[in-house]
Amino acid sequence: MAIPQYALEDIITLFTNGLHMIEQSYSLPAGCILRPASAQDLWSIRKLVLRAKLDPTQLRLQQFWVIESEGQVVACGQLRNFSGAQELGSLVVTPTWRDRGLGTFLAKHLIQKATQPLYLECLGKRLEKFYTCLGFVPISWQELPQSLKFKFGFSQLARILFKIPVTIMKQGSEIGGRR
Ligand SMILES: CC(C)(COP(=O)(O)OP(=O)(O)OC[C@H]1O[C@@H](n2cnc3c(N)ncnc32)[C@H](O)[C@@H]1OP(=O)(O)O)[C@@H](O)C(=O)NCCC(=O)NCCS
Repeated sequence: MAIPQYALEDIITLFTNGLHMIEQSYSLPAGCILRPASAQDLWSIRKLVLRAKLDPTQLRLQQFWVIESEGQVVACGQLRNFSGAQELGSLVVTPTWRDRGLGTFLAKHLIQKATQPLYLECLGKRLEKFYTCLGFVPISWQELPQSLKFKFGFSQLARILFKIPVTIMKQGSEIGGRR
């Protein structure tokens, strides 16, 4: 008996989604769940962002994804929308959960979710290496789309005036083999 085309497509979609879920569940530590942020997460996100001394403005819940463990938000990150571009921002893992792959997992998820060319700015060589492993490459302020030039302009000024090691990066190549 021939399988109708629509059924075949459904089977393929189910199989692909299944593989995706298996891949995700294997990559996060047991008990951790990745999910879109909800209204109840606002204060947890604010706390994470403030404690990490990141920009506490423009925290739009609908742009955030979080990782939860035992009912607590232990990591967050967002995709900020600009005209013709997106920024990966507010990526924070609570200190007790760092170096266990959560940051990489969440960043990879946000990269997959991005629908526009993706940019970020980061401070220091360790973070630059972290993002390089995720396929980001350093670019100059001049290479930014117009919509991001103003926002990233402040940190560039700080870089030039006070020698603060801020790097602008664009997602532009294959994700490296970190894990
Ligand atoms: C940046 C940040 C989000 C990374 O989160 P994280 O969960 O610690 O990241 P990961 O665990 O995926 O990777 C971090 C390090 O752990 C190592 N690591 C990851 N998983 C590992 C594992 N299973 N075993 C051993 N080491 C591992 C990685 O190699 C990496 O090391 P390196 O950066 O020195 O090369 C986190 O450090 C943080 O919240 N920092 C403060 C906020 C901040 O600066 N955010 C970035 C704004 S641009």
